[in-house]
Amino acid sequence: MEPIIRADNVWKVYGTGDAATYALKGVSVEIYPGEFVAIMGPSGSGKSTLMHILGLLDTPTKGHVYVHGTDVSTLGEDERAILRRKTLGFVFQQYNLSPSLTAIENVELPMLFAGVPAEKRHKRAKELLEMVDLGNRLYHYPNQLSGGQQQRVAIARALANDPEIILADEPTGNLDTERGKKVMEIFHQLNERGKTIVLVTHDPEIAKHAERVIMIRDGEILGVKKNE
Ligand SMILES: Nc1ncnc2c1ncn2[C@@H]1O[C@H](COP(=O)(O)OP(=O)(O)OP(=O)(O)O)[C@@H](O)[C@H]1O
Ligand SMILES: [Mg+2]
Repeated sequence: MEPIIRADNVWKVYGTGDAATYALKGVSVEIYPGEFVAIMGPSGSGKSTLMHILGLLDTPTKGHVYVHGTDVSTLGEDERAILRRKTLGFVFQQYNLSPSLTAIENVELPMLFAGVPAEKRHKRAKELLEMVDLGNRLYHYPNQLSGGQQQRVAIARALANDPEIILADEPTGNLDTERGKKVMEIFHQLNERGKTIVLVTHDPEIAKHAERVIMIRDGEILGVKKNE
């Protein structure tokens, strides 16, 4: 089976000379359709850097990223943006919702950028918010929602354009155990329905949710562990 995303010998160096930080040192990973993968490592190990590169939000200093076999570095900025929108949905630790938009407007936004007509946008955003159990919070603003609710809005937003993969960077990092559990349940449901999930975490308890755990330390892959 062909991986959806493949990183081949990826290096990321921030800064130059004495100030250079080697955030990734020859990392290769493959993400296959339908997988639930965790990328686990301590703070500063390069997890977010790797996630940004796998998510086409950043480019490697050296090495290549392939999406469905296409070397992303051969694409222009517009082509990359379209590929990102079609293939990838992002969930971040800090939710990253627009504070001036309601929950439903936040979920509609990626569809607006993708040119989806207003009525369809609204209908789908409502369905997605209902799916994450927020049908009764459509017109609340982010600051009127709890952390767990905001993160569920962010998950609904990540699903807006029906991406193949959800990339989530410490999605439960700001949540208490109970709210974190609910967010993890949603990722499981999505995975059962065929969505590929890549979850970045420092927490072994969270990583247990994944079928495959890629362990990273000091910018290098230490190994891969399969969970039951
Ligand atoms: N923009 C940047 N400029 C310089 N160095 C950076 C930059 N971003 C990250 N780094 C460095 O690269 C390394 C990897 O950072 P990264 O954010 O990927 O770690 P992480 O595993 O996500 O950590 P955390 O669990 O704390 O989020 C760290 O040493 C960090 O200081
Ligand atoms: Mg990080």
